[in-house]
Amino acid sequence: MATLLLLPGDGIGPEVCAEVRRVAAALTPDLEIQEAPYGGASYDAHGTPLLDEVRDQAIASDAVLMGAVGGPQWASAPRHLRPEAGLLNLRKAMDVFANLRPAYCFEALAGASSLKPELVSGLDIMFVRELVGGVYFGQPRGVEDLPDGQKRGFDTQVYTTSEIERVGRVAFEMARGRRNKVHSAEKSNVMESGLLWKQVITELHAREYPDVELEHILADNCAMQLVRAPKQFDVIVTDNLFGDILSDAAAMLTGSLGMLPSAAIGDPGKPGLYEPIHGSAPDIAGKGLANPLAAILSFEMALRWSLKQPEAADALLAAVKAALDNGARTRDLGGALTTREMGDAVLAEL
Ligand code: NAD
Ligand code: IPM
Ligand code: MN
Repeated sequence: MATLLLLPGDGIGPEVCAEVRRVAAALTPDLEIQEAPYGGASYDAHGTPLLDEVRDQAIASDAVLMGAVGGPQWASAPRHLRPEAGLLNLRKAMDVFANLRPAYCFEALAGASSLKPELVSGLDIMFVRELVGGVYFGQPRGVEDLPDGQKRGFDTQVYTTSEIERVGRVAFEMARGRRNKVHSAEKSNVMESGLLWKQVITELHAREYPDVELEHILADNCAMQLVRAPKQFDVIVTDNLFGDILSDAAAMLTGSLGMLPSAAIGDPGKPGLYEPIHGSAPDIAGKGLANPLAAILSFEMALRWSLKQPEAADALLAAVKAALDNGARTRDLGGALTTREMGDAVLAEL
């Protein structure tokens, strides 16, 4: 029996994960769901956001699905013990180097976007964000005291050839199954690591993927093009930091941050880490206002990419689409359904 490790975490994480549980019980009753403490909740109970045994349990499961981590109550915890550090450590330990972040606009939600419906109707972008390297992990980093009494904060942006190649391969493979186009976004005009990124992607393309259309784009221009004419994009491959920012911007094209799932995958055969791209939303936590669809669609991605149940994934995607077609809307989408009622709407379609 396949196992899914659920890590509800903080804020709205437990609320949206509860809906995933209900959907899984109805759709895949044979799936064994385990649950473990994580993030700020784990820090409060165990003094660390990620226990070693939870990390090992994650690596040993078939897929991991997390809700969200973080919140103002942990802002003063030491950096290495903050909920976000637990998330970064889990990504690193699982070596899930490619984060697939689809920005897909359900037809029923074209009017919910902050852009004009004709700009987003039919939108289907796949971000491939490098997830275990770059400035998120580069050394050295820190804050040091200067002789003149100032402080100096520093981080290191760093990529190696193989780190760029492996995420590039995922992007090109992905494009072959879609509209066959990759945009590679970097800042090669100012950054050394960006220049290497561009060179490595160029060579990889020429060597292994000449059939795929490749365009290089500066990350700032990419941000502008995403709100000007988003439908020009198919696959966008980019580094950890740019991918974080560009995918949040793309979320609004689809109607709400509460709609966007993600799949972090590594080498074949290893478990994937599935997470909605939104955070713990402290402003609405505990009120039943969170949209659970990003989490439910993350489960859909887990069924597809790790659990090898494409029929169940198709059924779930169709149920979400039907629920939206029938007018199901949480508050972020301009409606009044609670988290649980949105779960009910999906279950009714299933
Ligand atoms: P956020 O994504 O939590 O919230 C941004 C805004 O979007 C808020 O107004 C929130 O109410 C809204 N929102 C988010 N998800 C929603 C949903 N499912 N339904 C309806 N509305 C939703 O970002 P933030 O406020 O910048 O960060 C809060 C905390 O979450 C921080 O501690 C941050 O580090 C953390 N965070 C965690 C993750 C993660 O666990 N993967 C991702 C992003 C941020
Ligand atoms: C995300 C989040 C995380 C990131 C934080 C919470 C560490 O913003 O998953 O998009 O920056 O990767
Ligand atoms: Mn983010």
